Amino acid sequence: GGCAVRGQARLGSSGAAVRKAPRAAGAEEAGEDAEVNTRKKTFTEVQTERSEQAERTVLIKCPPKLNEKKLLQYLSSHGNIESHFFFENRGIHAVIEFSEKNSIASLQDAIGIPSSAEHHVVPFKSRLFTFTLKNPVSQAAEETPVHLSPQSHIPVKELIQKLCDADSISSQMYILLNEYQLTEENIKLRFLACSLVRDFARAYFPDSTVKPFGSSVNTFGKLGCDVDMFLDFHDIRKHGTKMKKGPFEMEYQMKRLPSERLATQKILSVIGDCLDNFGPGCVGIQKILNARCPLVKFSHQPTGFQCDLSVSNSIAIKSSELLYIYGCLDSRVRALVFSVRCWARIHGLTNSVPGTWITNFSLTMMVMFFLQKRSPPIIPTLDQLKELADEKDKHVIGGYDCSFVSDLSKIKPTKNTETLDVLLGDFFEYFGNFDFRKNSINLRKGREINKPESSPLYIWNPFEQDLNISKNVNQPQLEKFVAMARESAWILQKEDKTQQVINKEPWGLAALLIPFGKSNPSKMKNRMKGLGSETIRSLLDSLKLNNATSLQKAAGK
Ligand code: CTP
Ligand code: MG
Repeated sequence: GGCAVRGQARLGSSGAAVRKAPRAAGAEEAGEDAEVNTRKKTFTEVQTERSEQAERTVLIKCPPKLNEKKLLQYLSSHGNIESHFFFENRGIHAVIEFSEKNSIASLQDAIGIPSSAEHHVVPFKSRLFTFTLKNPVSQAAEETPVHLSPQSHIPVKELIQKLCDADSISSQMYILLNEYQLTEENIKLRFLACSLVRDFARAYFPDSTVKPFGSSVNTFGKLGCDVDMFLDFHDIRKHGTKMKKGPFEMEYQMKRLPSERLATQKILSVIGDCLDNFGPGCVGIQKILNARCPLVKFSHQPTGFQCDLSVSNSIAIKSSELLYIYGCLDSRVRALVFSVRCWARIHGLTNSVPGTWITNFSLTMMVMFFLQKRSPPIIPTLDQLKELADEKDKHVIGGYDCSFVSDLSKIKPTKNTETLDVLLGDFFEYFGNFDFRKNSINLRKGREINKPESSPLYIWNPFEQDLNISKNVNQPQLEKFVAMARESAWILQKEDKTQQVINKEPWGLAALLIPFGKSNPSKMKNRMKGLGSETIRSLLDSLKLNNATSLQKAAGK
């Protein structure tokens, strides 16, 4: 065999329980069948299954050219391979999922530790390996290109081109969804990143786990988005119940600290240091321990993800589950959210760095609220989901009742049959005219409620009823959102698709994904170019007078 696999590092060899997991859940291959299959699993079931899959998985850096069959053959000598894929991220990588966890221990026993005169390695064994050919020249003949599964979405320009070839706004929205949503492989990679970080956490806390939350798991994640992960000490609760039996009590002696926050900061600080010092490919570690929610940010080079690690926040997990349920209920939900998020990003309403702008999370909640307000509603209110909850769905966190149904089949499908064409236009119209000065957005009740305080945008945290999830948004940012929403509603109402298609101009959703207005007069000119003088006149009529001259100028008439 002309190959060698070198261990990059590994920790916590747990050659323990081996159990064959059920087949991968949630194959998001855009097929309806796959959708239906995912729908039946609860959020917790999907999460558990994927975490377990990730534990049986290794990541191997490969040479630019390789013989896929030979690599798989070599790895199969350590155990059956359940699934695998390749991806490009500063070199080719293979993700190999074994059927059984102990195959990894067998592989780890067989592979070498890197040696070099210039470096000294930290002898920390992980599930990240490097695969090299001992004799690249003689082996070159057998090499064939491998299929690489994409881990990023197509550029906006290319997307717009594709959208123009669609036959309705609704199909444009599904095209966008299919191009941008996380793929099965990307989701696996996200769980793998968490599982690799977990190996470090277990060096200190053998009972801990690291799980993704936020957009990696709530069905609204876009290719390229950060991995939010949290450290969970799940055994603590189990121990609590065990101790109740018998005539006496025993408990662990543990370090006592004045606050939970301080404990969180200390734990994150050492795990941050550990990743920084010993984590292969963990770079750019930033400890942000004084934030409201303390976290460690870092870049995980082997998977290519930017990661945010925090300590278990049960309420944030409940919001992820709630969004997951909404995302699974009706295919229009995710299509609308992806379009609105993409639109917001292009017009600078959201930003990848935190600030006074609206976050994707708030924006998603606004879309959910809008869908609750349709008649008939497309998704139920949180109070309705709470009514459907059974005994095992009961969760009270920090005095807040966070119970809601987890079994998707208990939720009646909506009778609403509106098209996405209508919903997109109405979304912009609804928020273009929303009374933000007076009203707040409440998903628990599914209706507007008088604002309890004067923040420009008030969206109730669905579980901590006295928190505003959009407290960061200032008045100018809200006004910009309203202006863009109005402009977009107007474009959708006034546009003449037939003309635009003839003139090969962006139409429908595509027209909304091009920056508007004065900042980009050439685009505006383009937008106006194909319109006949009749259309121009009616366009100008419907505009406010003070806008008319600049538009006319832009149109070059
Ligand atoms: N979260 C929250 N309250 C906030 C902000 C965030 O409860 N004010 C929780 C939500 O569960 C959210 C998660 O933290 O999903 C992660 O936050 P963030 O990364 O900001 O949002 P994502 O939903 O992950 O969206 P994005 O794709 O922009 O990362
Ligand atoms: Mg996130």
